[in-house]
Amino acid sequence: MKTRILMVCLGNICRSPLAEGILQSKTNPEKIFVDSAGTGGYHIGNMPDIRSIAVAQKYGIDIHQQKCRKFSPKDFENFDVIYAMDNSNYSNIIALAKNKEEISKVKLLLSEINIETKEVPDPYYDKDEGFEIVFQLIDKACEAIAKKL
Ligand code: 4NP
Repeated sequence: MKTRILMVCLGNICRSPLAEGILQSKTNPEKIFVDSAGTGGYHIGNMPDIRSIAVAQKYGIDIHQQKCRKFSPKDFENFDVIYAMDNSNYSNIIALAKNKEEISKVKLLLSEINIETKEVPDPYYDKDEGFEIVFQLIDKACEAIAKKL
């Protein structure tokens, strides 16, 4: 059975599509399934933000084919680990959990690495530099996750 990992942010167009693509690039698709979703439903069906596509492309990762979807309570059953990008995403996910087992699947992505920053900042209203910072944070965390898997 594959290990199933879900990356979650608010919009599912900036941070979690990057997390999906980056972790996929570091893991074997025959063993690990990675997906992403957003707790908000503003961009359902859209491709990732052009700035996320660009920064991923810069590092050789293609995420343009991804399609935005909303996080569903069913995801608790379908995934082994659910990574939230920030505390607000974490609270929004936990609010939909039915029991302790579901809650225990949810972690902050940056809890996987030893740095002071515990949240991947929302880059939506930033310039391109924000996307570079976000890429680097997510990349470090995904490297640590891939090593553990
Ligand atoms: P994300 O960024 O949660 O990293 O995908 C955002 C994208 C869109 C919005 C907020 C955050 N929005 O409000 O539309």
